Amino acid sequence: MMEETWRETDRFICGLLVPSDPALEEALRSSAAAGLPDIQVAPNQGMLLHLLAMAIGARRILEVGTLGGYSAICFGRALPQGGHMVTIEADPHHARVARQNIASAGLADVVEVREGLAADVLAQIGAEATGAYDLVFIDADKRNAPLYFAWALRLTHPGSLIVVDNVVRRGALVDAASEDPDVQGMQTLMRDLGSEARVKATAIQTVGLKGYDGFAIALVRHDVDGKAG
Ligand code: SAH
Ligand code: DHB
Ligand code: MG
Repeated sequence: MMEETWRETDRFICGLLVPSDPALEEALRSSAAAGLPDIQVAPNQGMLLHLLAMAIGARRILEVGTLGGYSAICFGRALPQGGHMVTIEADPHHARVARQNIASAGLADVVEVREGLAADVLAQIGAEATGAYDLVFIDADKRNAPLYFAWALRLTHPGSLIVVDNVVRRGALVDAASEDPDVQGMQTLMRDLGSEARVKATAIQTVGLKGYDGFAIALVRHDVDGKAG
């Protein structure tokens, strides 16, 4: 019963605060028609990602886990002229649907879908040394989130944000006995966030259209000796 109240409240919030974006709605329709799982961020969460990118004036965004391109479009809409986004997707079918959705949103020149396993593509990006990213969104296989966080640290600069989806997993995060590698991945990630001197981080539980889950947000610090930023 509470879960229906969470969903109803998300619909209320979205109705008032998240203007309809025909390209996002079409992305949801075409993703569903293509058989993609319904696991993209909720519209109000997509707006949060959009607002975070706008708030820091992000010009270069990196996403790990594209699916049908829903969150990528939310980020792409936040980029200024000359901005660029790379989003990584291992599944060729997902990547194809995403490229189509991104093109329909008018973002084909701005958002690049790189197909491949994230660990491989991140290593390629690291080797290309194309410049640091202002915001990294980690939303692929949860078991490898600590690896993606380590790459995010290498590919960002002081002032960058690193955002991680699905850190709570219906509370599984606190199950110390969990043998689920995805849960263990998030537990390791949280320990890494807590012990990594280069970031200041928090995690927030969320409820709503996507059930009970959470985001982690880390700011790459300007100094690591404790005081400012
Ligand atoms: N960010 C999207 C949702 C991503 S769902 C949104 O909110 O709109 C997670 C995606 O990560 C899936 O499309 C899945 O195919 C992809 N994925 C899973 N493991 C991966 C890996 N090792 N490398 C790259 N992508 C992966
Ligand atoms: C799953 C992945 C996600 O990125 C998400 O937001 C929800 C669920 C999943 O793999 O089940
Ligand atoms: Mg997710």
